Amino acid sequence: MKLNDCHNIEDFRRLAQKRLPSPIFHYIDGAGDDEVTKRRNTAAFDDCDLVPNVLAGVQDINMSATVMGQKIGMPLMLSPTALQRLFHWQGERAVAAVAQRFNTWFGISSLATVSIEEIGAAIKTPKMFQLYIHKDKGLNRSMVERCKAASFDAITLTVDTIVSGNRERCQRTGFTSPPRFTPSSVLSYAAHPGWVANYLFREKFALPNLDTHVGQGTNVAVSVADYFNTMLDQSMDWKMAEAVRADWGGQFCLKGIMSVADARRAVDIGATAIMVSNHGGRQLDGSRSPFDQIAEIADAVGGQIDIICDGGIRRGTHVLKALAAGATACSGGRLYLYALAAAGEAGVQRVVGKLHDEIERDMKLMGVRSVSELDRGMLRWR
Ligand code: LAC
Repeated sequence: MKLNDCHNIEDFRRLAQKRLPSPIFHYIDGAGDDEVTKRRNTAAFDDCDLVPNVLAGVQDINMSATVMGQKIGMPLMLSPTALQRLFHWQGERAVAAVAQRFNTWFGISSLATVSIEEIGAAIKTPKMFQLYIHKDKGLNRSMVERCKAASFDAITLTVDTIVSGNRERCQRTGFTSPPRFTPSSVLSYAAHPGWVANYLFREKFALPNLDTHVGQGTNVAVSVADYFNTMLDQSMDWKMAEAVRADWGGQFCLKGIMSVADARRAVDIGATAIMVSNHGGRQLDGSRSPFDQIAEIADAVGGQIDIICDGGIRRGTHVLKALAAGATACSGGRLYLYALAAAGEAGVQRVVGKLHDEIERDMKLMGVRSVSELDRGMLRWR
């Protein structure tokens, strides 16, 4: 199987599984408990049908959306995700370059393997920094200051990882950051010499947004669960979120909002966007899917705050369904991570290009000329 054989995200997923040592693949692919929520995030779209209109004159359509004051070229953003240089040596640099080519939002994580400063200087496309609130207050302040200095366009505060989800695949494989070659995983690494050579001989693995303050993750091998459970501040509350927003002073997004009540509070504290998200099903298994929640959240706060549907998107039609239900735009992580792991920047370019073309084709087939024409009248739940 080669890059040209990958026509959809599932194809890229299979190629990624071939190319990656199993602890790395299962870190990306795995989720919480029984992974019910991860499956539901995508399956939810199948419970809702599109009802197209025709004869709309769709030779010139406008795919742009506006999120947090930034006009983007398509209503799909690349969510921040951690540890990308472990998946492919090109890591965040590859994803950022593709986001820029498609003129859409790019996000980097606090646990990114490329620095805030480098991304700030490298790309002009709108960029968000995904902040995790640590117990180390100096670290939190330093990340916000670095984002200001690097002219980031938004801070996205993660609110759904107050403790780690129960990721049993990672427990079985012993996945840590940085990776540790354990007796049970060493064979899987040995079977992927290409990955090992890149890991050993290219730029050394690091988490440059954290390692000025903490050694865990960069120099001390820890599981992501241990990292969350020991380093992050479980006392985080609405007051703290509001204080971060005030300190930052710019566009501010909460990532991991699921309830209407919390969506209203996000408006109250002056957030400019919410990502309706359950962290790709990696946290609370049994949580409802983002798509299932969009309509009620849009009814409550639509027009007051941008609503980003994050999770489970595998097709252009999924984006259209979420927008018709009331989302401002959609976003996703695994949807480009499998392609990154499979083929680096060329993979990300191909998968994002396919999603872009799907959205365009599906808008034409739906008879809509701009994303603002999508509305709930075009949806029927089964
Ligand atoms: C995850 C974090 C790091 O593993 O986003 O889900």
